[in-house]
Amino acid sequence: MKHKLPFTVRGVTVPGKRLGTELGFPTANLEYPRGKEMPESGVYVALAEIAHRRYTAILNQGEHPTAPGGNPTIEAHLLDYPGGDLYGKSLTLTYLHFLRKEEKFPAIEALKAQIRKDRDAARAWMAQSGNERIQPEPVVLETASYRYDEEGRQAVDDVSMAIRAGEFVAVLGHNGSGKSTLAKLMNALFLPTSGRVVVCGMDTKKEPQVWNIRKHAGMVFQNPDNQIVATVVREDVAFGLENIGMPRAQMIDRIDDALDAVSMKDYAAAAPHMLSGGQKQRVAVAGVLAMQPDVMVMDEATAMLDPTGRNDIFETTRRLNREKHITVVWITHFMEEAARADRVIVLSDGKVAMNGTPQKVFSQVKKLRKLGLDVPPMAMLSEMLNKRGLKLPGGILTVEDMVKELKVCLSR
Ligand SMILES: Nc1ncnc2c1ncn2[C@@H]1O[C@H](COP(=O)(O)OP(=O)(O)O)[C@@H](O)[C@H]1O
Ligand SMILES: [Mg+2]
Repeated sequence: MKHKLPFTVRGVTVPGKRLGTELGFPTANLEYPRGKEMPESGVYVALAEIAHRRYTAILNQGEHPTAPGGNPTIEAHLLDYPGGDLYGKSLTLTYLHFLRKEEKFPAIEALKAQIRKDRDAARAWMAQSGNERIQPEPVVLETASYRYDEEGRQAVDDVSMAIRAGEFVAVLGHNGSGKSTLAKLMNALFLPTSGRVVVCGMDTKKEPQVWNIRKHAGMVFQNPDNQIVATVVREDVAFGLENIGMPRAQMIDRIDDALDAVSMKDYAAAAPHMLSGGQKQRVAVAGVLAMQPDVMVMDEATAMLDPTGRNDIFETTRRLNREKHITVVWITHFMEEAARADRVIVLSDGKVAMNGTPQKVFSQVKKLRKLGLDVPPMAMLSEMLNKRGLKLPGGILTVEDMVKELKVCLSR
């Protein structure tokens, strides 16, 4: 399968052959599910990202199941990795450049010599092309704006941001602050009126196949009823796959896996209108998952659900983020959801007004109020107690943390 580069794949490193180690650089093996569409086998120059640090890598992509699970693996030789334990870490590989076809070598020495050659070629390619322009972040906005009509104001106004691979980012903002417009820019439903939006290496303006972008970045909307298109759950999940022209036989596993991941396998033959709101949203999530996306954009996906359904969808998505390394953009107006994200971005009038960890963002109580947002209950309580003379630290978001900090504070 020929793939347009750059191509990004994520996973967890597993033990395997460690030939590179003998040559002075460690080898990380990445297992990927059978059937996942990958670039053609061969040797590639790539960028490897571990714990937000990037390394030049040589990838050996082929049919060599070396991992314990028996799935095909990619061998990644990390040319400038400083050392330390490598297994069980999350790894992002961005294929940049095809180096050569895979070859069988009669002796290990010949293979080592070839890897040395590959190493020099990879370094030379990186030096010449520079890895500055490479964006392994799955979603990048560069001074992107969007306006609905020519006279109107910008609904998204000159926004630059990058969502890192594997991140779970919450987006907050009062009504009309531009959250849904931002979401649609991330999914190529809208093209920026100015600036650029790059999704998994694809400029949404340049990409003629919108479906290719949708395949990488799936979206779930607020109203579960507007998203169901079929009269049987299984068919509904199949819809996106049909759109990308996947053969029926290949679809079946994908659909089963996706329904399994959201605990809806037992409902495969059910009629969607018989399901609860939360279950319908889970089916919508399965429809996105079946596409094996890199990114999921959830636009207030829990807003119409009762508290149980809400928590259910949040937990399901958070788990998929952790276990399947899917990057999540979680748009919400529930502070308690945002408090559980890796990072919070607050929009106001189409601009980024705040951006940081939940602790950092939610400790700025005054600013949040000015932006028309609720303050999480524990942040509010901290503020009130501090006004009465306590000295609680900023960023307390949960009851457990409050109890802990109060104990510290009162024992002083
Ligand atoms: N279809 C539309 N036509 C014209 N203006 C729109 C349309 N949708 C949204 N807007 C305007 O764009 C701005 C941002 O809206 P939106 O992205 O929906 O915000 P949010 O999702 O944060 O509530 C608002 O001022 C809104 O009135
Ligand atoms: Mg909205």
